[in-house]
Amino acid sequence: MKIKSAQFVVSNTDWRKCPSGKPEFAFIGRSNVGKSSLINMLTGRKALAKTSGKPGKTRLINHFLISEQWYLVDLPGYGWAKVGKQQRGRFEEMITGYLLNSPHLTCVFVLIDIRLEPQAIDLEFINWLGENGLPLAIVFTKADKQSRNKNIRSVQMFEKALLASWEELPPRFITSSRQGTGRNELLGYIEGILASLS
Ligand code: GTP
Ligand code: MG
Repeated sequence: MKIKSAQFVVSNTDWRKCPSGKPEFAFIGRSNVGKSSLINMLTGRKALAKTSGKPGKTRLINHFLISEQWYLVDLPGYGWAKVGKQQRGRFEEMITGYLLNSPHLTCVFVLIDIRLEPQAIDLEFINWLGENGLPLAIVFTKADKQSRNKNIRSVQMFEKALLASWEELPPRFITSSRQGTGRNELLGYIEGILASLS
């Protein structure tokens, strides 16, 4: 799928103020997992979404309009140790409010750092999405950081952990924002969903 245009539209803390009326694809995952980098890689725009080596860069719900037809949504990360309880509660409210109240939310991409063993916080979040009937896909990030064999092993471990509570596995993608790995697959997946909606 060709990205004809990509533009930042607006940042919000409140889902009620978010733009609507077009299909939305949201990116979520632990802080620093590579959500904003992946949005830049997919759109081919290096600095569209702000990235940082330090966790906690994205703190708002950011809508990007793609090809005038659909939105990519960059969300703050969860599980960021450095924010206080109160701030973390606000982030969670912002994220869950958005996820539960966006009628055009078509897919939630959950990003997982491919180098880590399955983390409880990610599995809990994925299960929460399932319980709330939200469509999701898993995106493993930073595949360039370790060997192909290690990547395969990590994905298998994660799949095994998911099968403890899921009968059928959600779609899975292996990506590297640095090398462009998985770009065609992810855009093809989004294109398929968009086609099924029209
Ligand atoms: P928050 O907004 O803080 O929640 O983080 P985020 O999930 O948006 O992560 P971000 O895209 O800002 O990336 C965090 C760090 O990981 C940055 O230093 C990126 O350069 C790096 N990074 C992201 N994706 C990749 C990747 O595929 N490969 C490598 N090597 N580094 C990556
Ligand atoms: Mg970010």
